[in-house]
Amino acid sequence: MIIYTEVSELDKFIINGGKRLRGSVNISGAKNAAVAIIPAVILADDVCVIENVPQINDVTIDLQILRHIGADVRLLDKSTIRIDPKHIKDTVVPYELARHMRASYYFLGTLLSKFNHAKVSMPGGCDLGDRPIDQHLKCFKALGAEYTIEHGIVEISADKLIGTQIYFDKVTVGATINAMLASVKADGLTILENAAKEPHIVDLANFLNSIGANIIGAGTDVIKIRGVKRFKGTHYTIIPDQIEAGTYMIAAAATKGDVTVNGIIPKHLEPITSKLRKVGAIIEERDESVRVIGSDSYERTNLKTMPHPGFPTDMQPQFAALLTLAKGTSILTEGIFDNRFRYVDELRRMGADISVDGKVAVIEGIERLTGAPVKVADLRAGAALIIAGLCADGITEIEEIQHIERGYENMDKKLRELGADIVKRKFPDAVDSIAKIV
Ligand code: EPU
Repeated sequence: MIIYTEVSELDKFIINGGKRLRGSVNISGAKNAAVAIIPAVILADDVCVIENVPQINDVTIDLQILRHIGADVRLLDKSTIRIDPKHIKDTVVPYELARHMRASYYFLGTLLSKFNHAKVSMPGGCDLGDRPIDQHLKCFKALGAEYTIEHGIVEISADKLIGTQIYFDKVTVGATINAMLASVKADGLTILENAAKEPHIVDLANFLNSIGANIIGAGTDVIKIRGVKRFKGTHYTIIPDQIEAGTYMIAAAATKGDVTVNGIIPKHLEPITSKLRKVGAIIEERDESVRVIGSDSYERTNLKTMPHPGFPTDMQPQFAALLTLAKGTSILTEGIFDNRFRYVDELRRMGADISVDGKVAVIEGIERLTGAPVKVADLRAGAALIIAGLCADGITEIEEIQHIERGYENMDKKLRELGADIVKRKFPDAVDSIAKIV
């Protein structure tokens, strides 16, 4: 049994704000790379050892799914996992497992690729507005598969997958990944155009190439995949989590602290570094770390989220928390999702002055936030509320922290090590939402 974080829906974070963060923090493996690479292990014909796996609940669920369909999964140490996929036979991922996270749809791509069949419940994950999977289905169909969607379950099958040319109607991380997974064994050449370029797409391509795939161009908007029939095992290390790193950078800046963020790839953080510099933080870049020195006051700025290498949507709520305390009016435009401002009402409870019209938020900077009871709506909203709580006067009680623990490894512990006054109040008698599915 592998459970990374036992968290109940009643657990809370309690923050006594106003402490400057100081010291250094080590960044874990990237969530969005891990949740693509772990299902991709199904394609291998031998054992894979994956290192730098983040200890987060989305990974727990991925591993439960692998076990459920017949893989032998062992934890070698806290962040190294050995997966033997040789005995996988089942191609059905049940609703009880799939519903917990978005990335369960990667099992469609890998199972289809390996067994010509997959049956997976429509994905769950953060509620950020409408999140269709039409581009995923378009790819599967273009490769020669047929699908049905009935009672919330996608069933997909093919006699044979044949390489083809696919143009994405919009830039999508998930569909780019699923198209890569579904086409690595297809006959001939697949060309993906208008592909997403996020670092985790490059990481998945590197993993797949390490088991024998033939993929070139990942990280650009044209990816070429030549089908290969057999794959070996591998030993692979996941890249550091750029969003976790960016979250600690903003927390350091917002608390006027001085924090070195270690074990990162600074290039992946450029949009965040450049925005933080623009508002007044000092950032010193080194080979594998950045030092963030906070300022006593911040300037306003405007920001629009875009696909990589633009400013990531996954950092928008955290940056908004910082801008609530900047001088003047900042305008935030969400360029990816329809509804990524679900943290705004909670920040308002802490005194923030924010108004939202559709995909635009207008933030009037204020002098100080005050602690309040708040509720987390989704993963990055949770990170924003933690940052706000760290800056606020008095006590902030954060509810629904299971969203945070889906994607941040030991966030309360890492923050305590930086001097934050944050504790997790556990409710041991409550039903454990993760343990339930083990
Ligand atoms: N879209 C479609 N059709 C599709 C797929 C996507 O219209 O078939 C739309 C989406 O509705 C959205 C846009 O395209 O408006 C981009 O969606 P994308 O597919 O890129 O997002 P995703 O794969 O659902 C991943 C991350 C998200 C991250 C986004 C954008 C994973 C598991 N999730 O989601 O991560 O915000 O890419 O970078 O990789 C998070 O970590 O907090 C998180 C939400």
